[in-house]
Amino acid sequence: MASPSGARMDPPKTEVAVSRGLFRRKSVTELQREAETDTSLKRALGAMNLTMLGIGAIIGTGIFVLTGTVAARNAGPAVVLSFVLAGVASIFAALCYAEFASLVPMAGSAYTYGYATLGEFIAWIIGWDLILEYALGSVTVAIGWSGYVVSFLRDVGIHIPPALSAARGTLVPLPDGTTITAIFNLPAVVIIAVVTALLVVGIKESATVNDVIVMIKVAVVLLFIAGAAHAINPANWHPFMPANTGVREEFGWSGMMTGAGIVFFAYIGFDAVSTAAQEAKNPQKDMPIGIIGSLLICTVLYIAVSAIATGVVPYRDLDVPDPIALAADVAGLGWMSSLIKLGAIGGLSSVILVMLLGQSRVFWTMSKDGLLPEFVNKIHPKFRTPWITSIVTGIGVAIFSAFLTVREAGSLVSIGTLLAFVIVSVGILVLRIREPNLPRVFKTPIVWFVAPAGAISAVYLMVSLPWVTWERLLIWFVLGLVVYFLYGYRHSKLGKQERAA
Ligand code: ALA
Repeated sequence: MASPSGARMDPPKTEVAVSRGLFRRKSVTELQREAETDTSLKRALGAMNLTMLGIGAIIGTGIFVLTGTVAARNAGPAVVLSFVLAGVASIFAALCYAEFASLVPMAGSAYTYGYATLGEFIAWIIGWDLILEYALGSVTVAIGWSGYVVSFLRDVGIHIPPALSAARGTLVPLPDGTTITAIFNLPAVVIIAVVTALLVVGIKESATVNDVIVMIKVAVVLLFIAGAAHAINPANWHPFMPANTGVREEFGWSGMMTGAGIVFFAYIGFDAVSTAAQEAKNPQKDMPIGIIGSLLICTVLYIAVSAIATGVVPYRDLDVPDPIALAADVAGLGWMSSLIKLGAIGGLSSVILVMLLGQSRVFWTMSKDGLLPEFVNKIHPKFRTPWITSIVTGIGVAIFSAFLTVREAGSLVSIGTLLAFVIVSVGILVLRIREPNLPRVFKTPIVWFVAPAGAISAVYLMVSLPWVTWERLLIWFVLGLVVYFLYGYRHSKLGKQERAA
């Protein structure tokens, strides 16, 4: 078999592992062979499904909630610029993801890219880090989903018992003015159970449900844009960037930058498309379309929505849980309020769906590599889905969604995602240097600018997040190191081959 440089190599062990110990790597050619020959997952997704998966994961709480908070507290109408900046940083990363996903179309996404470029130890760090993005992301969004559902059902006269509507220990206000201590968050558990069941039953079924939800939520966003644009009062955009108050995150340039770090959450999700690589019919061509296409569509929608919301409502008044519904109301579209709530409920369900899909695929790949217990990597004989990793992920996420209040989790999800962006951007350069002649169906344009810009802007956004988030990230990694050295390092398949050799 030909090595990446074109020389002939013997097929066994030495071809798979490159380097040794913590830095042992999988060769790209071996990964490509694995992607082609491993047909255990069903290849059912086309470019359209992949783009819809991306939009399914991206549009969620970010646009429906954070737009208002950031306009009122950090950026004023310049929240539009915060969206532009976070969007540009995401596009740099998306271009790097697209090259990797088409070159190494494996379900492990950034984890596998790390394994091929920076070695097993860094790959483990990314895999562990992706738990923050996908599993903790699902927990956060499921809790948000529960809040929307409880409020929507209340509007239509259905009352979820308050003790079962929030995290354990939360004081839930009752209509008579007293409070009750919640036992657990039942709606959050229900949505995770439903989505997990769907993911077990099939990728095609999951993608179809996602397609329907995405059409509804994009229609709601477009209706808002078309319906509320006439009510813009340009006076609300003056001053466009209110003067800084003296506190770094309150207005001015620094406030707008802080806002970019916060609204970055709204863009998270396009990278999850790459975890469906082994379920795509033609990954080399369609992965870049799904990743970049979904991100570009959402970027345009976000900029339009934030411009309209701040043009219709004075920015200080937007600090409410449902700023887009408020803007619709002010624009005389009161009837849209329930529609927006419904769009948000559906919208958040598809975010959960794609995040759980991503997490189960990353776990599946890690267990196939021996870094996690191998019994979880079974494929369902009929449904052809990684059903055990899907169920294990679902149970874990359901338990945390039932009992956690995750006020700070959003920034932990963001910092975890940004770290993956940094490593993917660096990885793409490492691979261009190390293996310049690999046939690349999609090449990141002006890579020597885009990849460093992706890494630097992701680090910049990380730095803009609160210190407490960094502390939690560190604690998470210490835990990850313990797990790796107690289990992964010893059970790694590459490690075993290395010892055998
Ligand atoms: N981008 C997703 C959201 O905004 C995570 O909910």
